[in-house]
Amino acid sequence: SSVENGSFTWSSPSNIALVKYWGKKKNQIPENPSISFTLNNCKTTTTLSFSKKHSHADFSFEVFLDGEKKDDFKPKIETFFKRVETYLPFLRDYHFKVETSNTFPHSSGIASSASGMSALALCLMSLEKELSEDVSEAYFIQKASFLARLGSGSACRSLEGDLVVWGKHEEIQGSSDLFGVKYPFEVHQNFKNYHDTILLVDKGEKQVSSTVGHNLMHGHPFAQERFKQAHKNLSDIITILKDGDLDGFVALVESEALTLHAMMMTSIPYFILMKPNTLEIINKIWSYRQTTHSKVCFTLDAGANVHVLYPENETESVMEFINSELVEFCQKGEYINDKIGFGAKLI
Ligand code: PMV
Repeated sequence: SSVENGSFTWSSPSNIALVKYWGKKKNQIPENPSISFTLNNCKTTTTLSFSKKHSHADFSFEVFLDGEKKDDFKPKIETFFKRVETYLPFLRDYHFKVETSNTFPHSSGIASSASGMSALALCLMSLEKELSEDVSEAYFIQKASFLARLGSGSACRSLEGDLVVWGKHEEIQGSSDLFGVKYPFEVHQNFKNYHDTILLVDKGEKQVSSTVGHNLMHGHPFAQERFKQAHKNLSDIITILKDGDLDGFVALVESEALTLHAMMMTSIPYFILMKPNTLEIINKIWSYRQTTHSKVCFTLDAGANVHVLYPENETESVMEFINSELVEFCQKGEYINDKIGFGAKLI
């Protein structure tokens, strides 16, 4: 190829799953389909600079986070490069510099793997496009999602907005285990501009890496029932989203979050990833719903932080509730205000 050097910059958001992905087969194939909201403010910006090498030897790259060299990120990227090199044959022809930064604090307990891997996959696709003539828009985004999945499963849901499905589902045409697709059905006005305020309960290192976590589903006594339930919840959420059924949404989303944690509590070895303050917050949300007409609800990732989800028209009242009753359960009183977003951008 004739491209000697250059650089591309992409910014890519994080996402929060409504129906959770938990459990995978070989090659990052999910055990069940999942659906997520793409976020808007929590994102990673990555610049990939490349220059032609004159040998086709080992991978050659350096990684910087917020301008500082990060050698401890190299093994993760090396693994990613190995997984994707058959799909990107030019990988060994260049020396790469990966410069990345996140809008959210590094050790906030917010996983940067979804936004980070999708930003990197998009940069690599920009280089592929530079090297070959016919890369259509549809091929570009689909392959970028395919590559992001090989970096981190949930990353394949971070390229587009505002709702993305990953994993083959019988009612969702075009859905695939190999990449995320935009949610293809009608979404009621009630769910437009949905908000997510992320309460930072515990900013420490993850107690269970997601690789270890997914593996806990192998031979898990409830695994098959859980995978069936995810299919059913995805069917049910189609109607909920179309009808604007906020009560149905609350019930389904909270059940998904607690089921994810129940899977971790009932695996061998077992883990409790919630902290006392996670439960304090959940109880406060439940009593707030009982004493008001609010449709605020929570969801969780594989950690102690709480994502507080609510419709746009409740922003003022829910923020007042958060500031008066929930901040005290956050580490240093910190939270991040976010909402549904529309996907990655070339910068
Ligand atoms: O993408 P991974 O391998 O980090 O898995 C993420 C899994 C959850 O965040 C817990 C759920 C999900 O669907 O995002």
